[in-house]
Amino acid sequence: MQNMTALVIPSAHNQTITLTQVAVPDIAADELLVQIKAVGVGIHDSSFLPQELDYPYPIGIEASGIVAEVGAEITGYSLGDRIAFISMMQPKGGVWAQYAAGRADSLILPIPEGMSFEQAAAVPVAGNSTLHALHSLPTIDEGGSIFVAGASGAIGTFAVQLARARGWQVAASASSSNHDYLRSLGVELTVDYRDDNWPDHVRQWRPDGVDGALAVQPHTTLGSARVVKQGGTVVTVSGDRDNPPGVRVTGLSYHVDVGQELIALMADIVAGDMQLVIEQVYPFTDALSALAKIQTRHARGKSVLSLM
Ligand SMILES: NC(=O)c1ccc[n+]([C@@H]2O[C@H](COP(=O)([O-])OP(=O)(O)OC[C@H]3O[C@@H](n4cnc5c(N)ncnc54)[C@H](OP(=O)(O)O)[C@@H]3O)[C@@H](O)[C@H]2O)c1
Repeated sequence: MQNMTALVIPSAHNQTITLTQVAVPDIAADELLVQIKAVGVGIHDSSFLPQELDYPYPIGIEASGIVAEVGAEITGYSLGDRIAFISMMQPKGGVWAQYAAGRADSLILPIPEGMSFEQAAAVPVAGNSTLHALHSLPTIDEGGSIFVAGASGAIGTFAVQLARARGWQVAASASSSNHDYLRSLGVELTVDYRDDNWPDHVRQWRPDGVDGALAVQPHTTLGSARVVKQGGTVVTVSGDRDNPPGVRVTGLSYHVDVGQELIALMADIVAGDMQLVIEQVYPFTDALSALAKIQTRHARGKSVLSLM
């Protein structure tokens, strides 16, 4: 049995994430073994765990790397393929490791030429969530408008640019120190969520209300509803349970297949038509600093771990 370095939850009684040696996972016929090169860091990395798991359990759900082994039933992937993928609720362990098993039916994206492993690891979760969030909005004509609550993080950064690409006008919230950044992404009206009067500013900008809103940060659904037109839609990205009157509140449209849109998003990043913002690339051994930064909810864009 071959060993590898991984960041694990050691046991049910000791949840302190620890760097240690564990066995490289064996793969089933419908799985790939991926040599991990980079990891995308998310706020839920230490808490998105399968119900049944073996300890010590490597955490993490999003990574890029090289296909190192192909299960017997799998077609379409070969040794050496460069892929980015999401491995959710994998009982064999997550991706904060030198190797990870990924099911063939999970989200797997070929990395386009010209894209680094660090860049590729930053795309799957934020790209996937953003595209599903946009699919949850009703049809909005070119020239329509949306509001994005908490827009300078990984999801907001993609959401603003994809909304602009659809011809929509965008108002967005973040701290004032991020307003130049938001404008550089194409935001027309920036507001600071710490300013109690921010909804008035959005209402001055669009007196009848915006067509829809993406409430990216937790607890932003009610505020977003105040700036959406009567009968408009608020998409809660973080799963707020609020139900304000006069608007429709909905979650992400996970039933829509966005695979081709994600491939197009990666191509746009390589072409320079879409900004992929990575706040910092951390060495794998400093992963807990990356997680701590993400958990502040004030990271700009995405944080990534490098295993290279
Ligand atoms: N990341 C993902 O891929 C993913 C996937 C699925 C679901 N989600 C959900 O989406 C949420 C956001 O994810 P993310 O990675 O894009 O961003 P994030 O790093 O959690 O959020 C950063 C953004 O939120 C703003 N913010 C912080 N506190 C706020 C508050 N009290 N009110 C309004 N805005 C606030 C920040 O502004 P300043 O820094 O300028 O203050 C910044 O614009 C997560 O918490 C999670 O629940 C995320």
